[in-house]
Amino acid sequence: MSKKHFVDVLHKELARIGQAKTSKRFEKVIEGFTKSHSPQALIGGKPYRVFNSNDYLGLRFHPRLKTAEQAASEEFGTGPGAVRFISGTLKVHRDLEKAIASFHGRDDAIVFSSAFAANVSVLFCFIKGQAADSAVGGNTLVISDALNHRSIIDGIRVANLPKEQRAIFNHLDLNDLDRILTEKRGAFQRVIIVTDGIFSMLGEAQDLKKMRQVMDAHEEHFADGIWLYVDDAHGIGAFGKQGRGVEEAFHTKADILIGTLGKAFGADGGYVVADQVIIDYLRESAATYIYSNSISPGTAGAALASVELMQTSEGDKLLKRLTQNREHFQKEMQKTGCVFAAHSTHPIQPILLGDPGKTAAFKEGLFEGGILVTNINYPVVSKGRDEIRVQISASHTEEDLSVFADQWKAIVSRK
Ligand SMILES: Cc1ncc(COP(=O)(O)O)c(C=O)c1O
Repeated sequence: MSKKHFVDVLHKELARIGQAKTSKRFEKVIEGFTKSHSPQALIGGKPYRVFNSNDYLGLRFHPRLKTAEQAASEEFGTGPGAVRFISGTLKVHRDLEKAIASFHGRDDAIVFSSAFAANVSVLFCFIKGQAADSAVGGNTLVISDALNHRSIIDGIRVANLPKEQRAIFNHLDLNDLDRILTEKRGAFQRVIIVTDGIFSMLGEAQDLKKMRQVMDAHEEHFADGIWLYVDDAHGIGAFGKQGRGVEEAFHTKADILIGTLGKAFGADGGYVVADQVIIDYLRESAATYIYSNSISPGTAGAALASVELMQTSEGDKLLKRLTQNREHFQKEMQKTGCVFAAHSTHPIQPILLGDPGKTAAFKEGLFEGGILVTNINYPVVSKGRDEIRVQISASHTEEDLSVFADQWKAIVSRK
């Protein structure tokens, strides 16, 4: 009886999600990829140009990554066998961490199964401290950008702080951040400011330089200082001349930087880079690191090859190509009269349509023309800001970009 009631509740919830047109479970299944320079996704046997992938440099198909993945599997097996502190720390994991630390000019790195898993544990460890009697928690204020990624929101939620210890500043509004810091002066022992580097819905960048200036003006009013926590999952490998993300673009380092290996690096997993004491503390306390498997050896091998490749002339060429493709796309699309939802110099290019019906029609029209994109609707963006999110890759050819613009024009002319 009680089970039937709860099953009904679940059915109702699914119906509610369906009515709100926010269902996510009817994903298109990709059966494979074409073997071309710009691999196209095969769906129902038909090829589709991929304009909704985070694989900004096209590295997931790179032969060097595949070879490294295979070699690491041969050497270490297909799975890690245990969590890191038991017997799951393999040389390939440490080599990867050292390479990531060096890439970002830091003491050390710690790899997690994903950036999501990293955010949830790392924020908890910094905000709350692992043990109830730990001095880490203390009287901390957490200030978060209003449009931060879900993994950041959940990390702060898990820490279960009282309301007075949480604040949100308006998206990218550093005057608002300044206002909050002014109001809270002296009331807290330490402050942690948490932000995405590149914001995933609009491709906008947080200006870390200006943010650090605001922080510096208030630093002396908090005994343990103000800490900058940046998650640059979309920026690293796709933004900044050498792919170091917002840190490079704004010449400013975060105190704690989160990255993912599952977007521009073309592999999988998440990581943190910071000073040694912070990484040591996380190895002792981060639950999703201690009690959950790390990435498989093959994935670590592929990621290591990717971090190394990014620092070669080939990496430079791919980054240049990515910028050229993005600029070419913007120019072609401006000619069609389309409006962008934000000015983005990142490969995320959001085209503003303003209502869910329009985004659904454009997505469908593009699909008919052999193109995959994502429609982003309320509540992920505010009402009236519904968009088609396009993601440019270095692996796109000129033909891909022209086909996109032509298909867009064809849809507009049918309306
Ligand atoms: C800012 C940000 N953080 C974290 C993640 C999650 O990354 P991962 O897939 O490695 O968990 C994403 C992915 O969308 C993201 O945009």
